[in-house]
Amino acid sequence: MSTILAIETSCDETSVAIVKNRHILSNIVASQIDVHRAYGGVVPEVASRQHLEVMNVCLEEALQEGSLGWDQIDGVAVTVAPGLVGALFVGLATAKTLAMVHNKPLLGIHHLEGHIYASYLSEPTLKPPFLCLLVSGGHTSLIAVRDYGSYEVLGGTRDDAAGEAFDKTARLLGLGYPGGPAIDRAAKLGNPFAYSLPEGKVSHPDGGYYPYEFSFSGLKTAVSRLVKQLETQGALPVNDLAASFQETVARSLTHRAIACALEHSLSTIVVGGGVAANRSLREKLTAMGTEKGLKVHFPPMRLCTDNAAMIACAGVQHYQRNEFSPLTISANSRLSL
Ligand code: KG4
Ligand code: ZN
Repeated sequence: MSTILAIETSCDETSVAIVKNRHILSNIVASQIDVHRAYGGVVPEVASRQHLEVMNVCLEEALQEGSLGWDQIDGVAVTVAPGLVGALFVGLATAKTLAMVHNKPLLGIHHLEGHIYASYLSEPTLKPPFLCLLVSGGHTSLIAVRDYGSYEVLGGTRDDAAGEAFDKTARLLGLGYPGGPAIDRAAKLGNPFAYSLPEGKVSHPDGGYYPYEFSFSGLKTAVSRLVKQLETQGALPVNDLAASFQETVARSLTHRAIACALEHSLSTIVVGGGVAANRSLREKLTAMGTEKGLKVHFPPMRLCTDNAAMIACAGVQHYQRNEFSPLTISANSRLSL
């Protein structure tokens, strides 16, 4: 049994959590969405300042909610990469200080490994091997999880990440920030087959397409062209456009994830990252996966978006394998898994 306190500050959520093995004792998330909404997106400098302002309150609340003292905590985990470097520094400086003051080992965690671990928290019987479809604001990857801590990236995006495509398209449709939930809401009222949009494919130099590579920038351009054309004809059918866009992204993610799982003999697909909250993706992947005899697991919404519980759960594994980080460890804005 290991109990880990974790800090996550890679983007616009300040989060502190305590996890005992796969059990969440506390998971405090202070979202900065309202602060960044005024700018239409995350402003890195503002994010760092906000993390600094709310960090101590989050820390106190996490310890209070977990009813724990430092003598019951085995280690301090923290997201070290990838993310906004200034934001990461706030979490890292806090974690180093806590590790030093309380004489606990420091565990530097990759943010994407954290998103994979969200599924271990919500599905207690989940064990490798499985395929993880990781879809967030900064990443879109298909990762074979062969064992705990053993990852092979089988596919990814050549341009925009899926969440980024949602955010940019929402801006085109005047739906505001963050784009994913706004498009999801508008899509409920629209017809997903109103417009036929291109599902981006990445050409192989020898002909055909890469089966597990994604491309979303062409889709965004197609929506932009359609918006300009429709605007000249009167009021924009925002709900139909949102639904058609969402349908195309969900189809692209679903088809590739299922083909990849079948080809690599992985019978379980787990989904991680903010876009895992998307209604169409959840419905389509669950239905098609089940049809193909695959198990599909989506974590609950609060564990799909950024949170420190997933970082703490990854920290438990690192702690049990004695994978400690030196106090000299730095943050890294771009680091592959
Ligand atoms: O994992 P996450 O919280 O942060 C990153 O690590 O990037 O993901 C944030 C992304 C944003 O792009 C947001 O628009 C998207 O997840 N998102 C959604 C939904 N909820 C959040 N995208 C589609 N549908 C949703 N319901
Ligand atoms: Zn994330």
